[in-house]
Amino acid sequence: MSSFVIAPSILAADFACLGQEVDDVLKAGADVVHFDVMDNHYVPNLTFGPMICKALRQYGVTAPIDVHLMVQPVDDMISAFAEAGASWISFHPEASQHVDRSLQLIQEHGCKAGLALNPATPLNCLEHVMHRLDHVLVMSVNPGFGGQSFIPSILDKVVQLKQMIIASGKQIRIEIDGGVKVDNIRAIAEAGADTFVAGSAIFGQPDYMKVIGEMRHQLSLI
Ligand code: DX5
Ligand code: ZN
Repeated sequence: MSSFVIAPSILAADFACLGQEVDDVLKAGADVVHFDVMDNHYVPNLTFGPMICKALRQYGVTAPIDVHLMVQPVDDMISAFAEAGASWISFHPEASQHVDRSLQLIQEHGCKAGLALNPATPLNCLEHVMHRLDHVLVMSVNPGFGGQSFIPSILDKVVQLKQMIIASGKQIRIEIDGGVKVDNIRAIAEAGADTFVAGSAIFGQPDYMKVIGEMRHQLSLI
């Protein structure tokens, strides 16, 4: 996998032809499929569960599936998604009673483990679990909906997180999620992110290859 990862969020895809949409976006150059799971409890919206993840695997999707759990509680969904073919799983620390246990559960299933941080969630919640993390998903919008505007102050948070990760000596990806577009992806990467979730910016355009190409071009300028 290249050092910069582009992960289209299928939240913005056409659900009536989801398999084709995922095929198309992967053929257009995406690396990872970002899969937003919402439960109308932890966040005020409802999307899809493990059956849809399994259906994508059965359809033939082999790319990593990055499951972003916006659900509470989390542990049952971790196991269900791991069994349904998830590759990466992240959850929000506020949604788990036992964050360390939930992270271990993800790793026991052989998946990459991440924590997802809301805009107001401080970085110090990572302090005692750095050794269990493969990625940190930094939310640059409040979770629950696609198509929102990037919160600019999150760039400082990414810079601080990058410093924490360097100090830890661990290989931990920084994934940014929310409002990522062609015109801000370079600044986000310069702050320290290496994995970019984009929903409306990609699926909202007719030519996925063109948008992903423009994103990669911006990243090549760093
Ligand atoms: C929001 C989701 C995001 C969202 C991104 O809760 O986690 O993944 O779909 O959508 P855009 O790129 O449209 O902001
Ligand atoms: Zn997401």
